[in-house]
Amino acid sequence: MLKGKNIVVCVTGGIAAFKAVSVVSSLVKLGAAVDVIITRHAAEFVTPLSFRSITKTPVVTDMFEEPKVTEIEHIALAEKADLFLICPATANIIGKIANGIADDMVSTTVMATRAPVLICPAMNTNMYENPIVQGNIERLKSYGYKFVEPDSGRLACGTEGKGRLPEPYGIVRRVLMEIACEKDLNGLKVLVTAGPTREAIDPVRYISNGSTGKMGYAVAEAAALRGAEVTLVSGPVSIEPPLGVEVIDIISAEDMYRAVMERESEFDIIVMAAAVGDFRPESRAENKIKKAAGPPEIKLTQNPDILAELGRRKNRRALVGFCMETRDLLESAAEKLEKKNADIIAANNLNTPGAGFGTDTNVVTLLFRDGRDRMELSGSKAEIADVILTEAAKLLSK
Ligand code: C5P
Repeated sequence: MLKGKNIVVCVTGGIAAFKAVSVVSSLVKLGAAVDVIITRHAAEFVTPLSFRSITKTPVVTDMFEEPKVTEIEHIALAEKADLFLICPATANIIGKIANGIADDMVSTTVMATRAPVLICPAMNTNMYENPIVQGNIERLKSYGYKFVEPDSGRLACGTEGKGRLPEPYGIVRRVLMEIACEKDLNGLKVLVTAGPTREAIDPVRYISNGSTGKMGYAVAEAAALRGAEVTLVSGPVSIEPPLGVEVIDIISAEDMYRAVMERESEFDIIVMAAAVGDFRPESRAENKIKKAAGPPEIKLTQNPDILAELGRRKNRRALVGFCMETRDLLESAAEKLEKKNADIIAANNLNTPGAGFGTDTNVVTLLFRDGRDRMELSGSKAEIADVILTEAAKLLSK
């Protein structure tokens, strides 16, 4: 995802500097060419050798034990970079950059670059909340510098509060957001539904299905990476929410119906990837049903069909539905396209190897309302998500 990208990672002197090793390692695994610049203080927490072993490139430092990189080379770094990542960023480096001070390798190189700069502050809460630091951050934001918000939690100094460096995967995903893809969905609003719904029988039992949310989350993430403003309405799942996406958690099909209908008119593309429960118990028992009374008879009633309702309210947006079956897949998909007034139906057979719930891959046939030929897709859910979004976006420009 980062092949051909040059990233300069600047490591400054905080206890979180050790996490930068794993950030750099992930960036390298994703195909980026990474150069590391490390301050004298950071080198007290983590050695240049750790970074050099991963990047296979000399580390630029303010010290002279490492192979020396000349001044010219370090300006060249500033010029070739697609992104500068300052991770972790101390109050000191933020203050220096905000005030035009260039007195070490990191501050000098950052000043010399025209590449986007992504800053990950990490420090004690009082330092982070200090109005001088906040003022410096605001100032840098006004110049276009970007920030990764620190997490809240227990800090190395023993206090509780905001200032912790986010976990490496969050930082890496933010880097992907910045430079991994062309932002061809910029300006578009995308609504995605994902995961199963739970239809309560009593306070502890429910009817649900095996959806893990992976396909819908992949669509939401791909849309966000491509620059769209994304809202994800999600049933209960145990996967990490995609970065840069607004997540609305729901439990039942009726919750999902309300969450979608309250917002639907704002969106250019809607992708209904959720495995919405078709039926729910007619009533939910107030207390747990006792086993001693024997198996209860549960009367089911129909849930609202969200996709069909969106199809009725169609407007000019692109509407994508999914169809998952164990037989007569393409016939059902064609019928859904028609009945629900969708533009695209992504059909997948639960029995096909590599398709369906829980897998990281899918095998999908896309059916189009405008009469185009069907499209057969197989690959990672991320790859399939990209094709679905590309096809949906094409419909908007017609
Ligand atoms: O009718 P069926 O459930 O097979 O249709 C699947 C498509 O319809 C999926 O896109 C799913 O998210 C959507 N759906 C819905 N509301 C329901 C059931 C399914 O929006 N109650």
